[in-house]
Amino acid sequence: MDFPIWVLFFFSILIGDVLPATAQNDFWGKYCGLTGNYTKGSPYQQDLDDVLYSFTGTNNGFGFYDSTSGQANAAALCRGDIGPDACRRCVDDATRQLRKVCPNQLEAIGWYDLCFLRYSNREIEKEIDVSVSGRRRDNVSDSSYDQWNQTVANLLGRLRREVASGDQLRKYASGNITAPGLSTIYGFMQCTPGLSSTECDGCLVGIIRDIRRFDRSLGLGFHRLSCSIRYETYSFFNSTWYPAPPPSGERYDAPPPSGEWLPAPPSSGKCGYMAPEYAMEGLFSTKSDVYGFGVLLLEIVSGQRNNQFRYEDQPESLLSTAYKLWKDNEGEQLIDDRLTLNVPIGEALRWINIALLCVQEDPQDRPTMSTVVFMLEGDQWSANLPMPSEPQLSFARFVAEFEQTTTSGDSNTRPLMDRSRSLTSSC
Ligand SMILES: *[C@@H]1O[C@H](CO)[C@@H](O)[C@H](O)[C@H]1NC(C)=O
Ligand SMILES: *[C@@H]1O[C@H](CO)[C@@H](O)[C@H](O)[C@H]1NC(C)=O
Ligand SMILES: *[C@@H]1O[C@H](CO)[C@@H](O)[C@H](O)[C@H]1NC(C)=O
Ligand SMILES: *[C@@H]1O[C@H](CO)[C@@H](O)[C@H](O)[C@H]1NC(C)=O
Ligand SMILES: *[C@@H]1O[C@H](CO)[C@@H](O)[C@H](O)[C@H]1NC(C)=O
Repeated sequence: MDFPIWVLFFFSILIGDVLPATAQNDFWGKYCGLTGNYTKGSPYQQDLDDVLYSFTGTNNGFGFYDSTSGQANAAALCRGDIGPDACRRCVDDATRQLRKVCPNQLEAIGWYDLCFLRYSNREIEKEIDVSVSGRRRDNVSDSSYDQWNQTVANLLGRLRREVASGDQLRKYASGNITAPGLSTIYGFMQCTPGLSSTECDGCLVGIIRDIRRFDRSLGLGFHRLSCSIRYETYSFFNSTWYPAPPPSGERYDAPPPSGEWLPAPPSSGKCGYMAPEYAMEGLFSTKSDVYGFGVLLLEIVSGQRNNQFRYEDQPESLLSTAYKLWKDNEGEQLIDDRLTLNVPIGEALRWINIALLCVQEDPQDRPTMSTVVFMLEGDQWSANLPMPSEPQLSFARFVAEFEQTTTSGDSNTRPLMDRSRSLTSSC
């Protein structure tokens, strides 16, 4: 940790007492809120004790913690490259330290190199205009400036696109760039995973604008509440992520050249499940595979085929039945009796949750396949899986009609009342 040689500077529209760290083990930056104090023994203190006591159990599996108890809300985020143990240590430290340095404030924020923690009596999603940042004292030489400026801009542009395309569990990217006459530049960017890609991008663009006036510094870090950027001329992050980053080709925002690896259209009668975006627009990506995997997983859990699914002896839609039961805490009604002999109920319920995340309408809301594998592998982080929203059946009619037209002339064209069941089934 090399912050002593940094010049720290702070922006705070709320003129809070954000102060630079002084001693080792202190926060890099902290903010003790000005909206009010609580008194010893008050209900708020009880809520805050409760929320922080159980906090380390709320990791979403990728270093994001989020919890509420009564009036007290808390959230923490670890840098995307650090593993679960280092992350837990950092958040534990931050929890203890922040209560110490902001002893009675309703709201407090502390930033370490590897994690940051915030608690508040207001909604934790509310962005407040507090940030902590620092830059290296040494500057790039005048003769290298143009090259430097362009190279940094290229790196930041690349990372920005990558972060914003992350999933609901992790929005993080790191990388390096080289240019003639310059040392290699290393950087990372991160957003709170719950942000949409537009919100994440907006937050990062704000930082990029703010740091422009320090574009001669050979290193720079800037942390807001929902996003961070840092770059250096030495490697300061672990380029082996935890877990391994998805293989290339995972990006869904760059459709492959048509004809190259588009799957055969459903009319060919091949087995598989169509993601809505493929049925609607012919857009195919590995996120469409994730969708198909989700449907398959629900079939395994329920022991029934998607296109012949029955619930309480009635023909129903597998996806919406699974969602309804899961949402009403009755997910075990879906589970095939044969499965319960071998798999604990809690595990099967996790599978339903994961499957429902895979069949989200918007590909951006679906996890990547490597995230799915990680989530299935289990609970070494006692992971709180994100809540899926209801699978959209608005596509059902389209798919059904699509099937009808492509099978026109076929004597067993499905009746329209059957459409929700025929959703995404292509065989
Ligand atoms: C809150 O407590 C701090 C001391 O911890 C004090 O400096 C500050 O003035 C108090 N703020 C209010 C609004 O009472
Ligand atoms: C680097 O540039 C800043 C202005 O951008 C200046 O204030 C600072 O003194 C420079 N540092 C050195 C070591 O020259
Ligand atoms: C540095 O690069 C940015 C982004 O490419 C550009 O907008 C800006 O004008 C450059 N600054 C200078 C002083 O050349
Ligand atoms: C720089 O990034 C590339 C991938 O873009 C990676 O293969 C390489 O190992 C990185 N170099 C260092 C020194 O980290
Ligand atoms: C980097 O991450 C990998 C994978 O999680 C881990 O095995 C390794 O120990 C880490 N290296 C450092 C220096 O933290």
